[in-house]
Amino acid sequence: MDHLQQLVEQAIADFGAASDANSLEQAKARYLGKSGSLTDLLKGLGKMDPDARREAGAAINRAKVAVEQALEARRDALREAALAEQLAAEALDVTLPGRGQGSGGLHPVTRTLGRIEQLFASIGFKVADGPEIEEDWYNFTALNTPENHPARSMHDTFYLQDAPGVLLRTHTSPVQVRYMREHVALHEGDEVMPEIRIIAPGRVYRVDYDATHSPMFHQIEGLWVGERVSFADLKGVIAEFLRRFFETDALQVRFRPSFFPFTEPSAEIDFAFMSGPNKGKWLEIAGCGVVHPNVLRNGGINPDRYTGFAFGMGLDRLTMLRYGVDDLRLFFENDLRFLSQFR
Ligand code: DAH
Repeated sequence: MDHLQQLVEQAIADFGAASDANSLEQAKARYLGKSGSLTDLLKGLGKMDPDARREAGAAINRAKVAVEQALEARRDALREAALAEQLAAEALDVTLPGRGQGSGGLHPVTRTLGRIEQLFASIGFKVADGPEIEEDWYNFTALNTPENHPARSMHDTFYLQDAPGVLLRTHTSPVQVRYMREHVALHEGDEVMPEIRIIAPGRVYRVDYDATHSPMFHQIEGLWVGERVSFADLKGVIAEFLRRFFETDALQVRFRPSFFPFTEPSAEIDFAFMSGPNKGKWLEIAGCGVVHPNVLRNGGINPDRYTGFAFGMGLDRLTMLRYGVDDLRLFFENDLRFLSQFR
């Protein structure tokens, strides 16, 4: 049967040409599928007389077996080729050295904060905390900045849309009043109120974004309230802090008159290195002043008896100066190539 022989050879050629499992199954359908050519031949047997049918049926079945064997052989070959390809692609070089245990590290701002907390702790300062979602009253009013006071426009404030009177704190100063009130409540009835001596580090928020401003940044508030606390104490604490923080006595500190509603008098603190690459350049580092009597009152403290000083430093700026970083945004982009240098 020439015709069947040809059909088998064509099938073997078609299977050989199929380069993947999918096209192989399509080729199979042409011969063995529901309307494949071999299937059609088998269906045709019914119309033959018995003798012819016996002979033809045997021949068609032999052809069918041959086609099925060719199909199976090609399936195996394709499967093996795919496996070999996968193994080659996923080859492991077991002789490579291990990657090691990459050790993590603290963020440079966190490291700086830890250092600052340690330095202030060594002169008796506790660390206090306050909410980042703050009430307007603590952020402004209690700090001697009533509604419509022009000083409110010094801060570009994020307000919460559906919560009147609530905002993202624009500075850490509200912790001053929160802490005073807690402290006073705790020592109600005492003959003498123990001194308040705290720093309050944390995140603050303003609508601002460029190389030296981020919408979220960090401040450290300082507050010292007692019976005879003066501007002279403020100068001593700040100068000593800066020398120890930058680990050099070769720096000058300058208190430049300024205005803040919550202090009177108020000053900006500048300092300058007396050597090194920044030598002689005045760098602004904090606002400060003697706590305004209205602020003490809002904290529940009698301003005729107690006085105090406060300051607010930029933590990110101190970190930039300490490590010689000139773009604030690097701290918040989470690029490990930058951050891992501080491990
Ligand atoms: N809160 C001020 C600001 O963010 C900084 C400041 C100034 C804090 C004077 C103080 C202070 O405690 O006494 O601009």
